[in-house]
Amino acid sequence: NVIRFLNSARMSKTNNYYFQYKGCNFVSTIYTKEHLEQLEHFEIKDTDVFIVTYPKSGTIWMQQIMSLIYSDGDPAAVQNKPAIERVPWIEVPNSNFPARPSPRLSVTHLPYHLVPKALKEKKGKIIYVARNPKDVLVSSYYFHQHLALYESPKDFPDFLEKFLEGRVEFSCWFDHIREWYAHKDEFNFLFVTYEELKKDLRASIQKICNFVGRQLDDEKLDSVLEHCRFDIMKKNPMANYEGIPKRSEEGTFLRKGKIGDWKNHFTVAQSEMFDRVFQEKMKDVPLKFIWDNE
Ligand code: A3P
Repeated sequence: NVIRFLNSARMSKTNNYYFQYKGCNFVSTIYTKEHLEQLEHFEIKDTDVFIVTYPKSGTIWMQQIMSLIYSDGDPAAVQNKPAIERVPWIEVPNSNFPARPSPRLSVTHLPYHLVPKALKEKKGKIIYVARNPKDVLVSSYYFHQHLALYESPKDFPDFLEKFLEGRVEFSCWFDHIREWYAHKDEFNFLFVTYEELKKDLRASIQKICNFVGRQLDDEKLDSVLEHCRFDIMKKNPMANYEGIPKRSEEGTFLRKGKIGDWKNHFTVAQSEMFDRVFQEKMKDVPLKFIWDNE
């Protein structure tokens, strides 16, 4: 299974930590070019739903939300099987997408140009979750310290530089969101932010339900809301990625779950520098972000 596979994929001791495939960085011990080539030709069904995120933007949260929506709020759905098997990554080689029963809920960190081509025929649905990149960066920094699959960061300034230059897994945050946003009309596409989920989860879940065509009465919706709460997920080994190989017992996958933790990590100079890069890279993207007002 996927967890066993990831346990065997602990960080490589070689220099070939990443390989590039069509301009995107992949961790060598997890992904393969062969599988990435194959997945572009996967057949897609109308009932397929893909959560698309840049890492650390709320992927696991949306995996939980989708599992609960599709089980009409039944908590058993998120207590008996790990998230990674309920809503697998299509880019992980043994995720076995073609053989899975419908409706297939999947997740991917892939950039726009690497997803199955059939998605552009408006088959299947995409829910793109974005998060303030400063919080993504901080979350990713701790994540790299925590998981044995990754190279431990030297220090925060070094990791900040790598992040801004896209010398990280799945390359540059700016390219990921720019590309996806520019091409969104080619897909059945819903754009959601982590901040929106935090601020009004009920309304966000209703929006998602409308998008995927599922109706939940108030009781079922309450159950979805209850079981995707941060504290409940943190205690649920099937929701908090407990089986993934860690570097030490310190730290958890579900770390803080807050908006704005970047303020505890960035210096004023780092934040201003980040803002300059943001403005330059995002100048053609007609998106007003919720965090712009903070
Ligand atoms: P922090 O490290 O800032 O706490 P991903 O799943 O894409 O890797 O994202 C992980 C981030 O989402 C972590 O952020 C994690 O705590 C946060 N997260 C996961 N579940 C959450 C929830 N139910 N509510 C709020 N944040 C959540």
